[in-house]
Amino acid sequence: YNSSEEKDLVIIGGGVAGYVAAIKAGQEGMKVACIEKRGTLGGTCLNVGCIPSKSLLNNSHLYHQILHDTKNRGIEVGDVKLNLANFMKAKDTAVSGLTKGVEFLLKKNGVDYIKGAGSFVNENDIHVALNDGGETTVRGKNILIATGSEATPFPGLEIDEKRVITSTGAIALDKIPETMVVIGGGIIGLEMASVWSRLGTKVTVVEFLSQIGGPGMDTEIAKSTQKLLKKQGMDFRLNTKVVSGDKSGEKVTLEVDAAKGGKPETLSTDVVLVAIGRRPYTQGLGLENIGMELDERGRVIIDSEYRTKIPHIRCVGDVTFGPMLAHKAEEEAVAVVEYIKKGYGHVNYGCIPSVMYTYPEVAWVGQSEQELKNQKIPYRVGTFPFSANSRAKTNLDTDGLVKMLADPETDRLLGVHIIGPNAGEMIAEGTLALEYGASTEDIARTCHAHPTLAEAFKEAAMATSSKAIHF
Ligand code: FAD
Ligand code: NAI
Repeated sequence: YNSSEEKDLVIIGGGVAGYVAAIKAGQEGMKVACIEKRGTLGGTCLNVGCIPSKSLLNNSHLYHQILHDTKNRGIEVGDVKLNLANFMKAKDTAVSGLTKGVEFLLKKNGVDYIKGAGSFVNENDIHVALNDGGETTVRGKNILIATGSEATPFPGLEIDEKRVITSTGAIALDKIPETMVVIGGGIIGLEMASVWSRLGTKVTVVEFLSQIGGPGMDTEIAKSTQKLLKKQGMDFRLNTKVVSGDKSGEKVTLEVDAAKGGKPETLSTDVVLVAIGRRPYTQGLGLENIGMELDERGRVIIDSEYRTKIPHIRCVGDVTFGPMLAHKAEEEAVAVVEYIKKGYGHVNYGCIPSVMYTYPEVAWVGQSEQELKNQKIPYRVGTFPFSANSRAKTNLDTDGLVKMLADPETDRLLGVHIIGPNAGEMIAEGTLALEYGASTEDIARTCHAHPTLAEAFKEAAMATSSKAIHF
């Protein structure tokens, strides 16, 4: 790495936002440096987020299915055992394979990967405290802040990642707890609750709002999801707020308060998972040295071209506005490089899919029914249950439905909400349709292979004008 050379782009953070921007800028022929302090690339998503959690979700589902869902399929299994250490090893293999892959891609695209913590000296120079000792300074014509986010702590309950954990502890427990209370019934809470509940932990989810799923999940879908998760053994306390916690005893205790007139209660548990959201991470970045302001939630303030108030310093990903999702960060990373290089770029924020990888999966894109109601936008609904889909029936896997919302006048698709097996893959079809401005008739007139779960998607489109064939 040549430290005397001024870079076209210096990126602080090698998460999804940072590494994708680095590759894209390398492809555009720019001289790029990417500074990452973790020791591996891929950020939260690859190291402690999307990837490890999905490994645990996939394999715990397999285990749970072998235990509870084979007899009716004519499969008799013997002694089934979980080897937690190897179960975790499988996750680690997925993570290390992918993070090394990203390092290879940076090299391939001529990006200088600097292992260390970056901080602003001034508007163009970044000081790096190198991971293996020593320091250096990198100068950039353009700088990209891509420092991501961290778990929001619960006040008064110190995180030790053993008994009081965030998602990072939840993907690395070395024994199966007997009981777990999850504070927050959002996506992290429900995914991690699923993993440990399948392995045998008695899980109680405490959620402040009247529905699970976090922001954006359609209320009808959230209700069905809760029912299915309950059937799997999870307990829910909705409209309930955790007020305080104490971990000085053998068990961790939580004081909860029922929002709607119920009486206060004390919950006692082996492990508490704090999953009340994530907050932008800018610690140690030296933003004070360049007079950069944050908004009231700690987010870096940007304009529609990802520029901060210092125009050659831009920012994308979890550390700024918008949903904290890896694919959102990735879209922005490509767009911001296009803005720098060509002066134009594009992200359609109305068309970013969400997927919750529980079983069944829950996925949606576009507007929910309550969002349309709140804005007084008229809509038509079409739903199709998987219990009427031939593939789901064949697979003995019929929980869930596809719900489609469309404009009653123009028939334009407004939103798709799916709960069901493979919903996370199926939502790609809804996202494409929404991005291209499809009508539900366009979808209904598109031939779908038989027998597939995707036929439920087509039939839900037909159902918006009450013309489903199989229901
Ligand atoms: P990050 O991935 O957080 O990366 C920022 C990087 O910057 C970090 O590696 C950090 O070490 C580095 N950094 C910070 N400050 C400095 C500095 N001063 N110098 C050098 N380096 C620095 N999203 C999905 O879309 N799908 C999922 O299934 C999903 N699952 C998730 C599961 C969990 C448990 C969690 C916690 C998150 C999940 N997410 C998921 C969210 C996803 O991980 C984030 O949206 C995504 O990682 C954001 O990317 P980013 O690059 O903005 O930030
Ligand atoms: P979240 O915002 O989705 O959910 C947090 C929940 O906690 C909310 O429902 C909130 O009402 C509740 N809550 C807050 N304080 C509470 C209290 N004191 N008592 C009880 N409940 C309380 O945040 P979460 O689940 O931590 O996830 C953070 C981010 O990570 C999300 O933005 C999500 O997009 C991302 N993520 C995405 C995944 C995916 O795409 N599959 C998986 C995991 C995370």
